[in-house]
Amino acid sequence: MTTYKSKMVERIHLPAREERAANLEAAGYNLFNLDADDVFVDLLTDSGTGTMSDEQWAAMIRGDEAYAGSSSFRKLEDAVADVMGFDYVVPAHQGRGAENVLYGTILEEGDVVLNNTHFDTTRAHVANQGAEAVDCPVPEASEFDAEGDFKGNFSVDEARRVVDEVGADAVPAVILTITNNSAAGQPVSVANTREVREFCDEIDATFVVDACRFAENAYFVTQREPEFADASVAEVAREQLSYADAAVMSGKKDGLVNIGGFVACNDETLFEHAKQRGILYEGFSTYGGMSGRDIEAMAVGLREAVEEAYIADRVEQVRFLGERIAEHGVPVFQPVGGHAVYLDAGAFLPHIPAEEFPGQALAVEIYREGGVRCVELGSFAFPDSDRPELVRMAVPRRMYHKEHIEHVVDTVAAVWERRDEIGGYEVVDEPPMKEIRHFSAELAPL
Ligand code: F0G
Repeated sequence: MTTYKSKMVERIHLPAREERAANLEAAGYNLFNLDADDVFVDLLTDSGTGTMSDEQWAAMIRGDEAYAGSSSFRKLEDAVADVMGFDYVVPAHQGRGAENVLYGTILEEGDVVLNNTHFDTTRAHVANQGAEAVDCPVPEASEFDAEGDFKGNFSVDEARRVVDEVGADAVPAVILTITNNSAAGQPVSVANTREVREFCDEIDATFVVDACRFAENAYFVTQREPEFADASVAEVAREQLSYADAAVMSGKKDGLVNIGGFVACNDETLFEHAKQRGILYEGFSTYGGMSGRDIEAMAVGLREAVEEAYIADRVEQVRFLGERIAEHGVPVFQPVGGHAVYLDAGAFLPHIPAEEFPGQALAVEIYREGGVRCVELGSFAFPDSDRPELVRMAVPRRMYHKEHIEHVVDTVAAVWERRDEIGGYEVVDEPPMKEIRHFSAELAPL
């Protein structure tokens, strides 16, 4: 049940069907090229798109814009210590800024980094240091219908195989991404986190948690891991993060802000090194690419993220969306993850081969049908990979009401009804860097 009421509203409008068709054509059938004003319900990402609370807006007025020694930064340090249990904070403009700071500090050319699944920017920052990113998900992570409470877990068996091959000295860091965004937002158990800690001790590696969605993960733990059935989300979050040497954080997710991030740790030497790199790339060590008001809002947001009423409402809304869509027979990744519902476009549109981008075809039809924007994560976004054909519907935090969610369900159900009539696409114009083509390439229906 929602525990909010609105104090400020923003108009949205659903363009007429012919306008939506024209918008798609003008956008080259790439939803990144749409004007956001032409989108009715925007499920492109849960990153930086959520609604701030009145307390956060009030805090913004108090933002201290001092270049050095900002009191807002002290409040952020206190929030990180209280909520996440880390003593030291290096601020950054967003998650990938924090990744650059931390991975540039601890990685060297030729290193190997293990992760349950590297998110795209993480993989890119590991590669940018000349290191190799190796995923170690549990096998059920890629199985759409497999049962499992913690399909986001890290496979220590797989990691041991990699270490046997490359040697422990080659692996200076192990990352645990909670929840596992690239595995349908599936959670990671505390038991698994402890195993990863032991494994890191065994091979003498730094244990990093990518904590973007740490509060959502903690909520799942309270629901699914018997040891924590009576624990609060705040207690679980502290417990889970206590095993890590460092955390990278995108405040745009469970920081409940529109921009911001940081690296956090308890080791003074690591902190000092990261701080220097932070100054070089992000800004002085008490603002790191954020304004004082952004920092102030994140300090409040981190505390709100672990409030029971908020987090239950948040994760249950995503589950409601996924389960209602699945009731229509639509192939939905099970169980539903913390921040998004993932549709299996390969099974939804089996008559469209990978070369004709079934995921993109589905995302386009969902916009055409109901003005709903989601994102393709299949052969269009990841060319030359054997990833499944996914469409992600990520739900912004505290933004949409039940009516919006029901509109999305009706929209997907209507597309499902006419799925046999949907055709594939070809790329007609793409930028030189294929890895990021999905942000700007243009397509045409076949
Ligand atoms: N790590 C994970 C697990 C993420 O999901 C993201 C961003 C980042 C790092 C980078 O953070 O965007 O603040 O620089 N994910 C967004 C998404 C973009 O849509 O899933 P950032």
